Amino acid sequence: MVTKVYIPMDDYVGLLPGILEARIPNRKGRPRPELDLGGLRCMFLSFEGIDAYARTPFAFPFVMSLLRGEFRQPMHCLEEVDWLYLGGDKAVFIAALADHAAATGEEAELIPFRQLTGAVPQEPREGEYHVTIPRNTVNYNEQAWVRDKSLLADTPPEEWGRKTAVNTGNYAHLVERFAEPILPRPPRLIVDLGSGLGYTTAGLARCYPDAQVFGLELSDAALEMARTSFDEPNLTFLKHDISTPLDFEEGAIDLLVSINALAYACDQKRSADDIFSKLSPDGLFFNHSRIGYSHDFWEFPYSLIWPLIFQIYPETWAGAAGAHGLKTRMLPPQLSRRLTPWSFMHPMSQGTRRAMERCSLRYQEEDASEYLPCITHSLLLHSRHVEDNMDRHLSGDGSRRETLAHCLGLFPEMPGYVQELALRSRRENAKEMGLGDVGMDYCRRFVGCPVGF
Ligand SMILES: C[S@@+](CC[C@H](N)C(=O)[O-])C[C@H]1O[C@@H](n2cnc3c(N)ncnc32)[C@H](O)[C@@H]1O
Repeated sequence: MVTKVYIPMDDYVGLLPGILEARIPNRKGRPRPELDLGGLRCMFLSFEGIDAYARTPFAFPFVMSLLRGEFRQPMHCLEEVDWLYLGGDKAVFIAALADHAAATGEEAELIPFRQLTGAVPQEPREGEYHVTIPRNTVNYNEQAWVRDKSLLADTPPEEWGRKTAVNTGNYAHLVERFAEPILPRPPRLIVDLGSGLGYTTAGLARCYPDAQVFGLELSDAALEMARTSFDEPNLTFLKHDISTPLDFEEGAIDLLVSINALAYACDQKRSADDIFSKLSPDGLFFNHSRIGYSHDFWEFPYSLIWPLIFQIYPETWAGAAGAHGLKTRMLPPQLSRRLTPWSFMHPMSQGTRRAMERCSLRYQEEDASEYLPCITHSLLLHSRHVEDNMDRHLSGDGSRRETLAHCLGLFPEMPGYVQELALRSRRENAKEMGLGDVGMDYCRRFVGCPVGF
């Protein structure tokens, strides 16, 4: 068997000596003025816990960009998948090809090409390799304060944010403000999912002294800190893994709150279905989280094939809410507003980091609204009594092409400064990834529309 390795003419001479030096069995294929992407042998990637998929050849560097640490998959050892070099670290590419040759015994047919035509069809094909990328549910919050408890002990919760627990705040007042016009009566049972240090949970116990308030959390360290810091009589902290069903009766919970925690649920659809079944028919779910679209938008072309699967996708939660007869209101309602101050992002993208920091400042100066979410975060309110505004959000079956085309296609609607910063971010990302003209062309062809570089 032979692995077809397609290489742009301009990169061929640069790659060949390394391939020979690595003693990869190879032969030279007939050079092609044009490479039709529609004819490549591909693999089909799906992503655990969300409706997202991409059909792709082994298109380097996109398929390698996240194959590190917990994402590592032996995809480069798959047989009968074509390789396509589009830029990036030549040594890494050659090492992967050498591993592939050793694992499969396949000879590499090196085929230079001048330019691309067509696009990779996204529909799965019979007999193609199907690879499921596991969800990363590593607990990001176990930071310095867990290793050194003295950092937070003896510090009032108002100052925790300045002492390493940076993403902890008290959202109770915000929850109360949104809940007040929605809940038909004061809540009797309130649950905070992934309650962390319990600051918001305790705030809720104070706002609603007649309710029973539970904070559910997996981290022992966080539970211990929460229990020693807050002692409201109606407040209980329990150990619970949000990937497992909630231990409450169906329809029992009047007010569900989750702040920056649901991204850790392994199977988003299953968790969403369980959570909505436990909400009372007139209840409210205040769901604040990081949103995957920001990765799609800002971190393009890193985001070309991989959704950021440790964030949530609003349509997953709106879909589950709908199946339980609930509506979903997203705040802020537009994508541009969803891409605002502060950030949690892919660590490798320095261009994005710089762009987001600037965007954050501009947003605060020019665009500040009463509810100021983070640059990558949104608030979803799920209830029978909210006005649903999810109509302009993504639908379909989760093809990366469709998601990206929608997300990137909103570019012209963005404020000028967002456009300017997104462009800068994408250009810097493409440069960091080492994409040449052919690589950038591949991005446009994959998405099927102009993508703004
Ligand atoms: C970013 S923190 C937010 C904490 C809190 N809601 C707040 O706003 O301060 C995420 C929390 O989710 C918790 N967490 C992570 N995985 C979890 C799981 N599988 N089950 C329950 N909690 C989890 C973490 O321990 C952490 O406390």
